[in-house]
Amino acid sequence: MAHQTDKYAVFGNPISQSKSPFIHTLFARQTNQNLEYSAQTAPSDAFAQAAQVFFDQGGKGCNITAPFKEQAYQFADRLTERAKLAGAVNTLKKLDDGDIIGDTTDGAGLVQDLLAMQVPLEGARILLIGAGGAARGVIQPLLEQKPKQLEITNRTYAKAEALAEMFQPYGPIRAITMTEVNHSYDLVINASSAGLQGDLPAISPIIFSSLTTSYDMVYGKGKTRFNQWAIENGVTQAYDGLGMLVGQAAESFMLWRGLRPGSKQVLRELRKNLEGQ
Ligand code: ATR
Repeated sequence: MAHQTDKYAVFGNPISQSKSPFIHTLFARQTNQNLEYSAQTAPSDAFAQAAQVFFDQGGKGCNITAPFKEQAYQFADRLTERAKLAGAVNTLKKLDDGDIIGDTTDGAGLVQDLLAMQVPLEGARILLIGAGGAARGVIQPLLEQKPKQLEITNRTYAKAEALAEMFQPYGPIRAITMTEVNHSYDLVINASSAGLQGDLPAISPIIFSSLTTSYDMVYGKGKTRFNQWAIENGVTQAYDGLGMLVGQAAESFMLWRGLRPGSKQVLRELRKNLEGQ
C-alpha cells in the first residue's frame, strides 16, 4: 500500500508572502519526513470553518499567523500551558484521539534563536518594548531563562502594567513607563509594531550601550529601522526576527513529528533570499 503523505499547512490572511512552506519543506527534507506543507487562507472572521475542513480532510497540523491566532485559540479542543499564558495559538495538532491541541511556539522560537546567537539570558537585564500579542507570547519563555530582571514598557503604559501583573508568578518582571527608563540593558527586545509604520518607539536611546544586544522581532531586507537606531547608539550586536521565525517553525515541527530539525541552514537560505530581493 502506498504510504500517504501527511498534510500540514499555514493559515493566514494574507498568506502569499509566508515563508513557512519553504521552511517546513526544508525541515522535512533534512529529517527525511514524508509530508506536504501548503499555504491556506480564509476570510478574516472564518478561521474555524476553514480549519475544520482542513482537519476533516485528513490534515495533521497547521501553523496560524495573523489575523487568526486568537480564533485558533478558541478553535482548539485543548491548550498547552504556554498557549494559555500567551492567549494565542500559532500551532494546532490533531491528536490520536481526534482532539485538536493548540500550542504557541513563538516564545520558544525567540529563546532558541537568542541562545543560538549566544546571547546570555540567565542573569541578564532585559527590556521588552511593546505589550501586544507579540510581547505577551515571549514573556514566560524569557522568564524561564532566569533573567535578573525583565522590564516591560509600552506606549500605552496600562497594558505593560497588566502584563507585568499577570506574569508576576513566573519571575522577576515589572512595568516601567517609556519616560522612566534611565539606564542601558543587556538585551533590548522590540516587540512593538512601530517599525511597520516606519516609526520608532518614543523611548530614550539611553537603553543602549556598546554591551547591549538589540533584538527586533520584525525582519526585512537589510537592517530594521529599530536596529539601525540601536547601532547608531552604540550597539554592536543587533538581530532581527528571521531567526525567531525559523525557531518557532522548528518548535512546531518538533510538536508534530517528534524530531528537532536544524535551524542554521534554513536560516542561511532565507537570509540569502531576503537580501537577494
Ligand atoms: P502584535 O500582535 O504585533 O503584538 P498588537 O497586539 O496590535 O500587535 O500590538 C502592537 C504593539 O505595538 C503594542 O504594544 C503597541 O502599543 P500600544 O499598546 O500603545 O498600542 C505598539 N505600537 C504600535 N505602534 C507603535 C508606535 N508607533 N510607537 C510605539 N509603540 C507602538
